[in-house]
Amino acid sequence: MFLPAKNDTPTSGIPADTRFCPGDWTILSRYWHPVAASAAIVDKPASVRLLDRQLVLWRDGDGVNAARDLCPHRGGQLSLGQVCDGMIVCPLHGFRYDGDGACRKVPALAPAVPIPKKLRIESYACQERYGLVWVCLSDEQPLPLPDWSLIEAGEGKVVVVPPGVWRAAAARHVENFNDLCHIPFVHRGTFGGEEDRTIEAYGVDIGDGCLTFQTEYVEQTRYAGQRQDGGLHPLNRRRYNYHLTLPFASWLEITDEAKGSAFHIFDVASPVSTDVSKIFQILVDMTGGLSERDMIDFQQRINSEDAPLVEAQSPHELPLDLRDEIHIPADRMSIEYRRALARLGLGAGAILGS
Ligand SMILES: [Fe+2]
Repeated sequence: MFLPAKNDTPTSGIPADTRFCPGDWTILSRYWHPVAASAAIVDKPASVRLLDRQLVLWRDGDGVNAARDLCPHRGGQLSLGQVCDGMIVCPLHGFRYDGDGACRKVPALAPAVPIPKKLRIESYACQERYGLVWVCLSDEQPLPLPDWSLIEAGEGKVVVVPPGVWRAAAARHVENFNDLCHIPFVHRGTFGGEEDRTIEAYGVDIGDGCLTFQTEYVEQTRYAGQRQDGGLHPLNRRRYNYHLTLPFASWLEITDEAKGSAFHIFDVASPVSTDVSKIFQILVDMTGGLSERDMIDFQQRINSEDAPLVEAQSPHELPLDLRDEIHIPADRMSIEYRRALARLGLGAGAILGS
């Protein structure tokens, strides 16, 4: 019922109730992570969660702002308030805060009395790119966003898929997205391919903060609808070009070599908590002829094939010690992904509370 009469617990920094170990949280906090689709933040505040930190988002004349969803006056949840003159207004006592976190108005305070300097909300770096709102929780200079400039090049049809929440670790989602072996089995109902086809050996290029590999894959015709007889749609040879920006942003370019046109899936898993992720996807169709509705529907069918199986993987955490699971040559990407995450310093400590 009471916090201690002498309470030395820091109120900022790593969330007190997080299940991330402090080292993982600190490393992940230095990256930009998406928290919402830009189009979802209009005239009302939104409550989102990132790395176990509850945030309020709101839009003012300069763009979207992100802050801790907490009024330091009496613990009001700011996202239950409203936006007035570009400021977030606490629902309890009407305190108003600007995008830098400073309190600009305390209605109960006489105009001549200055607002206490320390009456601030904890604000975070926030920017809109690629149709998404990105937040960095660290005080340090954030690491760069993934270079997904193709989305902004004005080519092809660009579609932002409504985000979905998976009860899975972000890294488990990323590894699944970049996994060739699961496709014929998990995606029988969409673009699967032949179950007995061998995965040719491939190499992974390890760059500065990124991993890339290319391969051919014989997939079922995309966007062909669902067959009622359980059989495969016609097969098509495709070139897959995977580009993963650490820690959680993947870009898959699927090229139809006969036609020379490409379809792009940009996918990023936002770590809500250790075992909950918000999945953001942007599709760019250079093939022509696809409607936005068809693109979203098909991607959501693919996601609904993946999600329950990834959510059921055990343990929820991605093992970064390669001895913890058994690998085959077709797992080259997942092996290099686990190694790259470990090189970032992730997985160096135990997870709190487990
Ligand atoms: Fe999949």
